[in-house]
Amino acid sequence: MDEKKCLIVDQGAESIRAGIVPDASPTFNTPSIMEGTKLPLISKNNITSFDGLESIWLNIFKTLCLDPIDNDCFFINNGLTPLSQQRTFIEILFEKYRFGRVLFANTLITTLYSTGGDTGLVLECGYSNSQVLPIYRGYAISPGTVQSAIAGFDCTEFLMEKLQMLEKTNITLCSAKDIKEKYGYVRMSKETEAKEVVMPDGKKITLNEELWKCSELLFNPTSFSIEALGLAKMCFKSIKRSDIDTRKDLYENIIPIGGTACFYGFNSRLRSDLQKMCPSMNIVVQDQEDKALTSWIGAYVIACTEVFSKLTINKGEYKERGTNIVTRFLMY
Ligand SMILES: Nc1ncnc2c1ncn2[C@@H]1O[C@H](COP(=O)(O)OP(=O)(O)OP(=O)(O)O)[C@@H](O)[C@H]1O
Ligand SMILES: [Mg+2]
Repeated sequence: MDEKKCLIVDQGAESIRAGIVPDASPTFNTPSIMEGTKLPLISKNNITSFDGLESIWLNIFKTLCLDPIDNDCFFINNGLTPLSQQRTFIEILFEKYRFGRVLFANTLITTLYSTGGDTGLVLECGYSNSQVLPIYRGYAISPGTVQSAIAGFDCTEFLMEKLQMLEKTNITLCSAKDIKEKYGYVRMSKETEAKEVVMPDGKKITLNEELWKCSELLFNPTSFSIEALGLAKMCFKSIKRSDIDTRKDLYENIIPIGGTACFYGFNSRLRSDLQKMCPSMNIVVQDQEDKALTSWIGAYVIACTEVFSKLTINKGEYKERGTNIVTRFLMY
């Protein structure tokens, strides 16, 4: 039996989640910011400070009691990290921390493993990006990738600006994010709901359109004069780029993931918008229990199978090919 430990890290732009197999969900969660500051460690898909990231890794090793030497690590992220940074990444993991085996994967791909199926249209709506990838019988249809730079951060910023105008006070991004996650929702029809919201200073105010407009950005960006595709249009475009024989199965297996997909009403609206675009199709949007953790759980499923050792890069391969080996990473 393999006694090696496997560390799984989902390195997102808003938060970093980690855990060690056989724990089936991450036991470590921290914001992706430089220790003691508010500076982001990942900005526009670029790692801003490897030192800052490493101090988080050291914290992970300590908290999870992991000595990296000769153990395995499995890093997942949204797949948009530049190749040059992936090279630095693998160099640090092998040379400095001396991991035995390393695997990098895209969260859109690991997601599918958490569903138990092999076909689906994965729609990730995270912190700074939204993206769609069709996967058919285990194969990612890369030309079907559709991306947009509208995601959770934009929803928070929009709400913050609205609240600042309304309250004439300097509400922070952090407070706006809390209000968004607690009271925000996706509108289904013209009928909307006013809600009493408790502000950070304890004051109660009634909000209405602010609470759904912040998510409307995702579904209908052009109505805010933002040049981007709405989420349903992204899915539609992605499926249209896939082979005609795969389309029915993709429409019947739409899998939203990421923190921003946790907005109340997200799945129903996505389904309804897509149904209007393709009335003859049966649209099924899968409901994941915790959309923010789905990709980590998929990575855990991979780590528990024999496939894992076939996909990983080991020390010997790294020594032979150096950082060029990054191009062999699983489906980037
Ligand atoms: N209940 C909720 N309703 C609406 N938005 C939410 C909710 N929970 C989390 N979010 C938003 O999800 C976003 C973070 O998503 P997620 O955790 O998927 O990002 P990440 O993995 O850190 O980053 P990346 O985009 O790089 O994958 C934040 O903008 C956060 O405010
Ligand atoms: Mg993520």
